[in-house]
Amino acid sequence: MTNSNSPKISLKTYNSFQLDVSAPCIFEFDHVDALKRQIEKNGSDFILLGGGSNVLLLGDLDVPVFINRIKGTRVTSSDDKNVYITVGAGENWSDFVEYSVANNFWGLENLALIPGTVGAAPVQNIGAYGVEVESCFFSATLLDRYSCQEIIVTKQDCNFGYRESRFKSQWKDQYVILDVTFQLSRTAKPTLEYPGLKDFFSADQPIISQRAIFDRVCFLRNSKLPDPRRLPNVGSFFKNPVVQKPTFVELKEKFPNIASFAFGDDFKIAAGWLIDQAGWRGKCLNTVGMHEHQALVMVNHGGAVPNDVRALYEEIQHDVLKQYGIFLEVEPTIFPTLKV
Ligand code: EPU
Repeated sequence: MTNSNSPKISLKTYNSFQLDVSAPCIFEFDHVDALKRQIEKNGSDFILLGGGSNVLLLGDLDVPVFINRIKGTRVTSSDDKNVYITVGAGENWSDFVEYSVANNFWGLENLALIPGTVGAAPVQNIGAYGVEVESCFFSATLLDRYSCQEIIVTKQDCNFGYRESRFKSQWKDQYVILDVTFQLSRTAKPTLEYPGLKDFFSADQPIISQRAIFDRVCFLRNSKLPDPRRLPNVGSFFKNPVVQKPTFVELKEKFPNIASFAFGDDFKIAAGWLIDQAGWRGKCLNTVGMHEHQALVMVNHGGAVPNDVRALYEEIQHDVLKQYGIFLEVEPTIFPTLKV
């Protein structure tokens, strides 16, 4: 555990976009008791970070930053069908997925290699290759930062949606996630509908191993998503916009090749396609740009500053709105809080 009280600490190494903004202090905790003591001493006004891979720090912060380093992975119960695993919120997500695959616990293999921590996963209900974390989420232990009481919430309490949950909305400024319990399957449960998996695994293949799915997802991610350690980024910069059928029909008439997916009764439009078609793939604005292989990902080409990030995403929002009539919502959480 470390505690620094100097007046301005750089957050550059605490966010995967590597924006060099500051906070008055940083407090890293690896146990709930340490967190409680710190709250008693310094109050409940702080910003909580995990891996910093889904946040955009667009200015200096005037409150302390708390970093969750609570570790531990343990099987808490098990039956013929399922295993329940409780994982410290500060564990690395990708390591946990590897652990699940190594033990043949099914459910998370499509979520391989997503940067960030276990505690951050349910906040934005991380999703990739046809699976969202809500499908394996069982419960979480939270600390109320005002009363310092611990509570347990279940999946039903969390209002999960596409890149949404109560952790991101009503609960944002109240609860700290301490651990998450996952329900994983002991029997094979392959999810292979997403393009890139469906066309790779043929329908007549009798046995598809969990390791093969994991490897394929790793391959697909590595082939188009930049590694944040080499080219700093926060993954998808915008959400894929969801439109209702009449709007979709109009769009499809005007743009027959528009990339889209059915989403319940509605349709998800691929924001990456819109940005790409609008001419932004591979384009830069000073220190930042949209990635050459995946236009949905903004990257820091070195020394990125908040003004460049803001200018680039606002220009893209403007262009896409003008050309397609669709507003692109920024996906990562922005601090200090801004309306976008
Ligand atoms: N596309 C383009 N040009 C581009 C990028 C994409 O034409 O520059 C087209 C693709 O050809 C494809 C469609 O857009 O037809 C969708 O692209 P892709 O399958 O790469 O997925 P995505 O919608 O861009 C979403 C998630 C990703 C996740 C992938 C794979 C969101 C906001 N993003 O991206 O999640 O890895 O699906 O499942 O839902 C993240 O959240 O950080 C993230 C990377």
